[in-house]
Amino acid sequence: MKSPRLIQIAHQDPQAIRAELLAGLVAPTATIAPKYLYDALGSRLFTAITELPEYYPTRTEAVIFSHEMKDMARALGPVATLVDLGAGNCEKAARLFETFRVQRYVAVDISVNYLRDSLACLQREHPEMDMLGVGLDFSAALALPAEIGNGPRTLFYPGSSIGNFTPAEALAFLRQAQAASQGGTLLIGVDLVKPVSILEPAYDDPLGVTAAFNRNMLLHLNRLAGTDFNIADWRHVAFFNGSESRIEMHLEALRDVRVSWPGGERRFRAGERMHTENSYKWQLDDFAGLLQQAGFSRLRHWTDENEWFAVFAAFAGNGDA
Ligand code: AVI
Repeated sequence: MKSPRLIQIAHQDPQAIRAELLAGLVAPTATIAPKYLYDALGSRLFTAITELPEYYPTRTEAVIFSHEMKDMARALGPVATLVDLGAGNCEKAARLFETFRVQRYVAVDISVNYLRDSLACLQREHPEMDMLGVGLDFSAALALPAEIGNGPRTLFYPGSSIGNFTPAEALAFLRQAQAASQGGTLLIGVDLVKPVSILEPAYDDPLGVTAAFNRNMLLHLNRLAGTDFNIADWRHVAFFNGSESRIEMHLEALRDVRVSWPGGERRFRAGERMHTENSYKWQLDDFAGLLQQAGFSRLRHWTDENEWFAVFAAFAGNGDA
């Protein structure tokens, strides 16, 4: 049996993380990057969110894959190397192995430690498959390591994580993905515009799991930046901003609050907000246009019966069939 190779591309150093967080905290509208939602507890809370009845994206994407996987495999052709961006527990990619005839699996996530156990378990199920785990924060730059080897790759980016980028950032990311696929393909999940009555409860569920996910970010910040946030001072706010076509998540001060850290402080008025996440919702045509602008061609897409979610396949080559 083969064993998975694991590599970690340099972690950002703690001083740089602290400086980045504090710069966001003292900005006129305090802003914290959504990647800080995911400490160990935040990752578990996100998994719980995906099981909520109101959070439709994960479930809807899974239905699209289960109905359309064979057609997707025909569209993409055999997949020599599948690069799973934001792999987590590797579950979504593992469901593709057989139908896509995957020969080599590369799981990428912010820390290789998140991948160790899931890859070991997957390797037991697929003893002959080459597996590589890469710890890489690709939110800033998608610089895949040489260890992946040369030749066309299929980049897999499910879950509508692309929605957490602004349209300009999404375009920059897709351009990098186009180059990183080395003439290969992209398979990407995208959340679509739908009625506000569906969108808002998905990000503000009655059980309060998304509120816990958002507020837990403050505990993560306390550890990373030495701040003294008291989560009891903050409430979760989520709403659909129609003119930007995005769900916005904020943390709102319930009273006047003073937050301190070694060497600084910031006062928040009651009702003042910190912006913690955007989740853009796309129109099918606009996302297809974005893929083309990024250099992809021969686009295909599959949706569910309500057109709530889409999976796009696209080729990085020059458009020849
Ligand atoms: C990871 N990402 C695609 C999720 C989303 O829907 O934007 C994160 C999330 N935030 C609140 N609920 C889920």
